Amino acid sequence: MMRGPALFAIALSVSAVTAFGDLEGMFQGGLNQPAIEYGKRPLKDPVAELSRRIEEGKVQLQFEPGSGYLRSVLRALNVPVESQLLVFSKTNKFERFTNPHNPRAIYFNDSVTVAWIRGLPSLEVATQDPQQGVIFYALNENPLDQMLRTFPGRQTRFRRDDRCLFCHHGVLTLGVPGMTVRSVFPESDGSPMGRPDYSPDHRSPLEQRWGGWYVTGKHGSMRHMGNAVVTNSDKPESMVTAASLNVESLAGKFDPEGYLSPHSDIVALMVFEHQMYMVNLFTRVGWEIRASAHAEGKPDADLLRDTANELVDYLLFIDEPPLTSKIQGASGFSEKFAAMGPRDSQGRSLRQFDLEHRLMRYPCSYMIYTEAFDGLPPEARQAIYKRMWQILSGQILSEKEKGKKYARLSLADRRAIVEILRETKKDLPAYFTLVTPGRRARAL
Ligand code: HEC
Repeated sequence: MMRGPALFAIALSVSAVTAFGDLEGMFQGGLNQPAIEYGKRPLKDPVAELSRRIEEGKVQLQFEPGSGYLRSVLRALNVPVESQLLVFSKTNKFERFTNPHNPRAIYFNDSVTVAWIRGLPSLEVATQDPQQGVIFYALNENPLDQMLRTFPGRQTRFRRDDRCLFCHHGVLTLGVPGMTVRSVFPESDGSPMGRPDYSPDHRSPLEQRWGGWYVTGKHGSMRHMGNAVVTNSDKPESMVTAASLNVESLAGKFDPEGYLSPHSDIVALMVFEHQMYMVNLFTRVGWEIRASAHAEGKPDADLLRDTANELVDYLLFIDEPPLTSKIQGASGFSEKFAAMGPRDSQGRSLRQFDLEHRLMRYPCSYMIYTEAFDGLPPEARQAIYKRMWQILSGQILSEKEKGKKYARLSLADRRAIVEILRETKKDLPAYFTLVTPGRRARAL
């Protein structure tokens, strides 16, 4: 069963170069190396927990005509329906069934992503284990389930499926089992035209995002590749027209029967893309540090510093290009997400949006609250906090060349982020103190 993915991984690792501090290419240790044992160690991810509860008879998944177990699974895993995203390019496992008239729906929260396609009796779930990274599961809806459910103990079950790694473990997933996002020029049946083909995250300009996805919501004069198929293959970019931009309703594009929401919300898409790469970074950095500690007795100091620097730049949205128009979602996702908190005593939260100049009001990722962050090796967390404080205290701004890159975080931004973290993030080091204008924090 592992043969396909393993070969795929080897093929990719030959062409990719991994150097310390350069998190591109494959994770060199492989999935089975003793510090990781991806396929073997016991799991604590949300689906493993849910499976236990199903097994014990504490939860029963409910089947609905049209959408199968989807609604029930989302409820059991606490994934909001408002997070629905729709992808119609033939890029995923079910490419034969995915097209602009039958898009695949994706739903997510901080640690679970569920993918569903109408007409097939299966659900795919990717969840995050705090140690083992992203774990893949399929829930196969046996046609007899409806009947069998009437027998006690016969339940639809999640099955771990490492065949998913064939696509979810490669250079596009940062060399570890992980999440993929693609943006392609789709033909009228959803087939990707080939290049250009992007792997967007929050650092990508909007013009390169959402090719092969539906996008609902307003974004003023900014352009993106969503809601469109190529009609002139000599000029694929011409697919982007006034009709594919600022689309508020998808009515008439596909039959909505079975879908839980009529949206593929622009704000949800932006959060999703931020999160998918963040998740891969957590896994990769955690694994690099564990492998190094295993080989050398303790993690290599240069590796700790370089991986922390890379992770913190992403965590603090340092390379996010500015928005030039206001973004407005339509599904209710933004309101729901922002209301989740946690909030500080002034009511501020890392989940609040800006959406006029950048994605988040306070640019430090809410993913810092996840078990995946807390599950990083302690040495990695220490190095990450140390780097965060170098940036947030303003210390780094005094470094001539490097400092410029961080100047986009204003004093008010840095101060607010530190204040919010001090009140909401457990285990924050005590040296996160007041950020003052003239302050040159003591070197750590
Ligand atoms: C043929 C390649 C391929 C295989 C095999 C595959 N996937 Fe994916 N999957 C993708 C791509 C590509 C995306 C990104 C969305 C898109 O472009 O369709 C994706 C997206 C997803 C998502 C949404 C989150 C994300 O990473 O964007 C989930 C969840 C998911 N896949 C689960 C699974 C599971 C579980 C399996 C195995 C049962 C699996 N996939 C097998 C290619 C694949």
